[in-house]
Amino acid sequence: MSAEQGHLRLLDGIGRLITGVGPPLRDAAVALDGQRIAWVGPARQGPPPELAARVGEREELGGALVTAGLVDAHTHPLYAGDRHAEIALRSTGATYTEIAAAGGGIGASVLATRAHPHDRLERETAARLRCWLVGGATTVEVKTGYHLDVEGELADVALLSRLRGRSELPDLAVTFLAAHAVPADHPGDADQYVEAAASWCAPAADAGADGVDVFCDQGYFTVEQARRILLAGRAAGLDLRIHADELAHSGGALLAAELGARSADHLLHVDERDAAALAAAGVVATLAPVTALGMGRMPPARMLRDSGVRLALASDHNPGTSGVMGMSLVVALAVSALGLSVDQALEAATRGGAAALGLDDRGTVEVGRRADLVAWDAEHEGAFAWAYGLQPRRVWRAGVPIEGPSP
Ligand code: NIG
Ligand code: FE
Repeated sequence: MSAEQGHLRLLDGIGRLITGVGPPLRDAAVALDGQRIAWVGPARQGPPPELAARVGEREELGGALVTAGLVDAHTHPLYAGDRHAEIALRSTGATYTEIAAAGGGIGASVLATRAHPHDRLERETAARLRCWLVGGATTVEVKTGYHLDVEGELADVALLSRLRGRSELPDLAVTFLAAHAVPADHPGDADQYVEAAASWCAPAADAGADGVDVFCDQGYFTVEQARRILLAGRAAGLDLRIHADELAHSGGALLAAELGARSADHLLHVDERDAAALAAAGVVATLAPVTALGMGRMPPARMLRDSGVRLALASDHNPGTSGVMGMSLVVALAVSALGLSVDQALEAATRGGAAALGLDDRGTVEVGRRADLVAWDAEHEGAFAWAYGLQPRRVWRAGVPIEGPSP
């Protein structure tokens, strides 16, 4: 053993380990070597001698359920203000589209966000993101989209890229979403805004964005406009994601398939033809049950799955339709509202999310994968669909247990 090799951390006394590959393991242990998983196996047997000799820290988990860290594949946590009054109005029958047309919606959050000092935005966004990690989500996709001008959107990408480096927050995948809406003060028409947003993709990539997204839907961006921006994003080296068919059957899913996007998100209005296209193109369907409940319509999760589409899950945290800052409630809703089994929901919240983000180093508990793990306050995964907000006992992010406010 070379002196540079550090000590291993042994997670022992795991009652039930959901590896994401094969059936759950009973009475298991996992050895972590720095940021990676070095060994997974029966607790009785323990790691092989060459690894056992390097174990420096041992954590006894008391029979807990352990899974890979959860992945939230779609969030909008960078904004100021709230739209609670609007949500109350929606509860009386006003629609998302009507409220947006009356000056609410994304436009209202844009005004509040632009008026907010950038240092406060950074602090408040970080405080939100901390909730995900404490709740067991170790990777979170985060979007810009509440500045909608070039300086603000690029500053948002830079802000999110800075937060990505912070070990007390989840790991982040940063998505550039200047095409969230046409801002009310844009001097030109929608097509001119689309040209502008397309030209911002390369600087967004330079500022640290991993992906580009478009709200391709009725009242927002057309399929042609979305294609224009996404092709510019692809040319800049960004992964493609699409808010697709959320408000109407508007063609976003087919566009995602045509362009080979990483994910098509929401999908409340898709049909079998859309599903077949997504499956054939290998596009992940990222479903957001909290938003779907708010919209009063569920995406056809089982039909998508039966058509061969891989699923991911998301809180879709945003000021207009979802205040949820974590993934365990989303897993519960994927069971009760989307009709998935607990196993399918957990798979979507781990491997599926990793696939939606193009991150093949995580999402399962296997040797060589990133050591993002959660010991839950339960002994069986069925607890997710009972607790509606199951909490972790302990969370490891890239091999390091998170400290601070007890989960
Ligand atoms: O994913 N659909 C677009 N974006 C959000 C809503 C954003 C907002 O209302 O502020 C969503 O649901
Ligand atoms: Fe969204």
